[in-house]
Amino acid sequence: MNQYDARLRSEELRSQLNYHNQRYYVLDSPEVSDAEYDALLNELRAIEAEFPELITPDSPTQRVGAAPVATFGVVEHRNPLLSLANAFSEADLQAWQRRASERLERDDFVLTSEPKIDGLAVSLVYEGGKFVQGATRGDGRHGENITANLRTIKSIPLALTGQPPERFEVRGEVYMTKSGFEAMNLERAARGEPVYANPRNSAAGSVRQLDPKVTAGRPLAIFVYQLGWCDGSSPQEHFEILAWLSAMGFRTNPDAALHPSLSSAFERVGWWGKQREQLDYDIDGVVLKINDTRMWDRLGAVGREPRWATAFKFPPQQVHTKLRNIEVNIGRTGVLTPFAILEPVNVGGAMVGMATLHNEGDIRRKDIRIGDTVIVQRAGEVIPQVVAPVVSLRTGDEREFVMPERCPSCETPLSRDEGEAALYCPNAECPAQQVRLLEHFASRGAMDIEGLGERMAYVLFQEGLVKGVADIYQLTVEQLAALERMGEKSATRLVEGIVASRERPLLNVIFALGIRHIGYENARVLADHFGDLEAVLDATVEALQEVEGIGPVVAASVVAWGSRETNRETVARLKAAGVRMTEERVEKPPGPLVGLTLVVTGRLETMSRMEAEDRIREAGGKVGSAVAKSTTALVVGADGGTKLAKAEKLGVRMFTEEEFLAVLAGANLSDAIISA
Ligand code: IVH
Repeated sequence: MNQYDARLRSEELRSQLNYHNQRYYVLDSPEVSDAEYDALLNELRAIEAEFPELITPDSPTQRVGAAPVATFGVVEHRNPLLSLANAFSEADLQAWQRRASERLERDDFVLTSEPKIDGLAVSLVYEGGKFVQGATRGDGRHGENITANLRTIKSIPLALTGQPPERFEVRGEVYMTKSGFEAMNLERAARGEPVYANPRNSAAGSVRQLDPKVTAGRPLAIFVYQLGWCDGSSPQEHFEILAWLSAMGFRTNPDAALHPSLSSAFERVGWWGKQREQLDYDIDGVVLKINDTRMWDRLGAVGREPRWATAFKFPPQQVHTKLRNIEVNIGRTGVLTPFAILEPVNVGGAMVGMATLHNEGDIRRKDIRIGDTVIVQRAGEVIPQVVAPVVSLRTGDEREFVMPERCPSCETPLSRDEGEAALYCPNAECPAQQVRLLEHFASRGAMDIEGLGERMAYVLFQEGLVKGVADIYQLTVEQLAALERMGEKSATRLVEGIVASRERPLLNVIFALGIRHIGYENARVLADHFGDLEAVLDATVEALQEVEGIGPVVAASVVAWGSRETNRETVARLKAAGVRMTEERVEKPPGPLVGLTLVVTGRLETMSRMEAEDRIREAGGKVGSAVAKSTTALVVGADGGTKLAKAEKLGVRMFTEEEFLAVLAGANLSDAIISA
C-alpha cells in the first residue's frame, strides 16, 4: 500500500469506526458484531503502524490512553459551571416556579425534566468538529485539564457528525455504571486493593488518574446535559438543544421529557423515584429546567445557583451515622455473623438501626471500628450494609472489634473449619441455633407454615413448648391459645398450618432440615436423585458426589449431618409425625430446554418469577442469574431492568412471555418469534 492509498483507507476506516462506536456506546444500538468492529480496528491499527504520520487525535485507536502526566494543567472556564438549588417537596418546586414567574411576569413556560446523574460534571470543548479540551468542574471557574483521560471514554465523541458550530462547549456528567462498579470492586478486592465506596467516588477517582491507561480500563460513560457556550448558531430551546447535540453524536439521556405544567413535571419526578432502582446508573434526583433558554439570561443566578433550573433531590441511599456497637447473630447452622448497631438514620426513605457486616474478615479488611462514623447503604431490597468507616472523622476513642471466643447463647467454645472464613458454634443443641432452625424450617420454600416466624419460634422455645423442630407436630390448640398475643382462632390456624405442612414435597423437607450448604437447589437435586430422605442420609460421600451438581464440600456436609444421633432422632420423629419422607421418582423424558440457559427479568403476567424459573428447570433448562454471552435467551416481563440492556448489548435473544410459554410447551426454539 502506498501512502496515498493508506491515507484514503485510514480516513474511511476512521469514519466507519467512529460511526459504529457511536451506534454502540452512544445510541446503544450496534449495527455490526464485536468481531466485525475489531476487524476494522485492526486494519486501521496496521495502517497506522506502517504510516505513523497518518495517526490523528480523533482516531479510534487513540482511545487506549496517552502517556502519563505528572500533574494536570489548569483550565479557565469561559462561563462558570454553576450548581443547582435543591427542592425536596412539591411545595419547594412550586416556590421555585413562583419566583421565576414573578421575574418573568408570566407563568406559561414549558419545563424539561432529566435525571440528575450522580457522577461528576465535566466540560468538553469542540473546535472544527473535533474534541480538543476536557476539564473537571473544579471550583466552577477553574478546572483541571483531563483531556487525555476523557478521550478514553467511548461515549465521548472525538469527531462530530453533521455541521457542528465552529467552537463550542458542552457539559455533562461522567459516571460509572453500577454493574461495572460492582465487577470492578470484586476484582479490586480479589487483588487485595482498596474498594471504592460507590460508583460516584469511583468515577471521580477514575477520571483524575495521572495515567490515562488506568482511566481507559474503567467502566465510564457520559450523559451530556447542557450547551455551555457556542460560537455559532444553536437552537433556543433546551429540549431542542439536547436533540441537536444528540444528532452531532453526543450521548444525551433518552428519558428527558418536556412538560406543559409543573404538575406534569412532578409526576415525572415520582416516576423517576420508582425507576431509580432499575437503572444501571445512580441518580440522586431530577433536574427541572425552563425550556426556553432566552429566559435563562433574563433570570440569571443567585450566587452559584441559576434561577432557571432546580434539582429535586431523592433521599440519599448512602448516609453517615455512628456505629454504636457490633453484636453477633447465630444462624441456624451455628455460623456467627457480626452486625452493626447504628445510631438510627434515614437511608433512602427508611429508618435503619441495624446493618450487616458480613464476617469478621470483612470488618478487618474495611477497618471498621466501634465508635466510627460509617457509611451505611441501602440499595434495592437488600439489607442495609456498612460500606466503610469515615477515617477522617476518627477521634481516637474507637475500639477494634473482637469476635467472642465462646457462643454468646450457649457458651460453647467456637470453631472454624479450615479454609473457611466463618466461625461457628459446634453445639447442635445451642438454643439460639434451634430458634433460627425452627424459623427456617417453617419458612417459605421449606415447610411453609404461616404464622410461625421469627417471633413465634422464639416464644415456643422460651415457653418450653418445643425443644426441636419435630416437637411442633405435637403442639395443641390449647397450648398455643394460652400464649400471649394468641387467640383461639390464630392458634387453630397455626395448628392447621402445621398439620398441612406434612404434605410438602420431599425437596422442601430436605431444604427445611437446615443442613449446611443445602439450599433450595441442592435440595432439589438430592430429592430428584434419591427420592427418599433416609436414602439421602445413608448415602456415602462417594455416592453423593455422583449426583450432578453435588461437590465434595456439600457431600461431606450431608454425611456429617446424617451421622449425628440427634439429627437422626429428629428425622425419625418427623417420620412418625407423618411428614413426607419419600417421593415417587418419575423418569422424565428430556425436556425442551435441555442444554439451554435462560434468564428471567421483569414481571410476568401469568406466573411469578420463581414459578417461571421452576418451569425452566422442569423443562430441563438452567436458570441464569445474570445475562452473559452463554445465555441462550432472556425472558422479558414488564419493567425489565438492566438485564434487558445487557442482553441487547450482547445480542442475546429475547422471548416475550408468550414465546416463553410456547417454548415450554415444546415449540421449536428457532420457530419462536425472536423479538430481539
Ligand atoms: S444542569 C446550572 N442537568 O448536578 C445547571 N446538571 O448540582 C447546570 N447534574 O454540577 C447543571 N445531572 O454535575 C444538570 N441532567 C443534569 C444533571 C446535572 C447531573 C449535576 C451537575 C451539576 C450538579 C448541580
